[in-house]
Amino acid sequence: MYEYAIAWEWLAFAARWFHVITAIAWIGSSFYFIALDLGLVKRPHLPPGAYGEEWQVHGGGFYHIQKYLVAPAQMPEHLTWFKYESYFTWISGFLMLCIVYYGGANLFLIDRHVLDVSVPVAILISLASLVGGWIVYDLLCKSPLGNNTWGLMIVLYAVLVFMAWGYTHLFTGRAAFLHLGAFTATIMSANVFMIIIPNQKIVVADLIAGRTPDPKYGRIAKQRSLHNNYLTLPVIFFMLSNHYPLAFGTAYNWVIAALVFLMGVTIRHWFNTTHARKGHPTWTWIVTVVLFIVIMWLSTVPKVLTEEKEANAIPPAFQQYASDIHFSSVKEIVSTRCTMCHSAEPVYEGIVRPPKGVMLENDEQIAMHAREIYIQAGRSHAMPPGNVTEVTPEERKLLVAWFESSIGEKSQ
Ligand code: HEC
Repeated sequence: MYEYAIAWEWLAFAARWFHVITAIAWIGSSFYFIALDLGLVKRPHLPPGAYGEEWQVHGGGFYHIQKYLVAPAQMPEHLTWFKYESYFTWISGFLMLCIVYYGGANLFLIDRHVLDVSVPVAILISLASLVGGWIVYDLLCKSPLGNNTWGLMIVLYAVLVFMAWGYTHLFTGRAAFLHLGAFTATIMSANVFMIIIPNQKIVVADLIAGRTPDPKYGRIAKQRSLHNNYLTLPVIFFMLSNHYPLAFGTAYNWVIAALVFLMGVTIRHWFNTTHARKGHPTWTWIVTVVLFIVIMWLSTVPKVLTEEKEANAIPPAFQQYASDIHFSSVKEIVSTRCTMCHSAEPVYEGIVRPPKGVMLENDEQIAMHAREIYIQAGRSHAMPPGNVTEVTPEERKLLVAWFESSIGEKSQ
């Protein structure tokens, strides 16, 4: 059933397309509102209940926006809500998690040198960590600590660093970073879904019923928004990190993650201060650059290996692909066309690490990456880049035949 591999690849692309679009919409609107909020000016002629106003110009027109801290005296006829951006970012992100990390768990989620678990157990750990993360976070915000903005932020930071460490001790480095992003983004989306929007609905219901809404609902929502504000940039870093093995695949990856969360704060602090027209705190950029240089350096520190773990148990995929009639020719093609780049110590000039962590040196690795070899070098000409090692059309046909026949054998 090779059609399945092709459909899967396209499904993954569709989900990613959708995810990036919704994320742009969500982050775009949330950054817009943060900047708007900070830029509001108090003026004497404002209507009762209004806190501030701002003039903006965009797309050929002028906008005059006024903000009511609790609510206006009367319900407006039509209210625009901003919530689906966030919901669909989470839903599409979860879909990607299922497609890439649950569907490809043996390759991308589980590292048997880190934790030797079965696919269902790894998926359960992943799901439990996302749900558990929200519960712990929400309890912390609702505890007495929640009244102390800075105290809460420091404890939350400690939780995130602990999760960074924890995830790197559960999954592959790549999955660890992705999960750290998903953990954080789940908190952000749940803030919108479970706190910010429900509180807003209570206020609207009070207004319609002619009651004066309790300002505490707005305050709580504001605190959750503040967290979302500082968490946005790190989440994007973690989501993009799977393209950069130096970030996720090196010995001190969890320390790198801890520093990334700090960069999220220093960068946002500059924008928050500037939008509030309280000056331009240049020091935040100096701190950001220093953090980035430390991260670059950390990625070069080698791991001190105390004991080499036992070799993996041979995965089932291996039997399936290695027993195929074409396997010996596939090995020949891969070792002459791919291994110079895709090995632990690449010999191709300018390549210092196996690209994307893909190593194709032995039978097991080739079998493990069968589907990717099929997509990257069989069905498409993505690999090798620029066909530098001159893979012939016949060789590509053979890679295709290999994957399709061994898949076919299994499904019969
Ligand atoms: C000249 C060096 C070079 C050669 C030769 C080469 N690759 Fe790659 N490969 C790369 C680079 C660089 C990347 C990372 C591309 C990127 O960042 O998008 C990569 C990425 C990959 C990936 C991961 C793609 C992904 O997006 O996850 C696979 C699978 C792969 N190569 C397979 C192969 C196969 C199969 C061959 C032989 C037919 C091959 N490569 C030959 C350099 C090479």
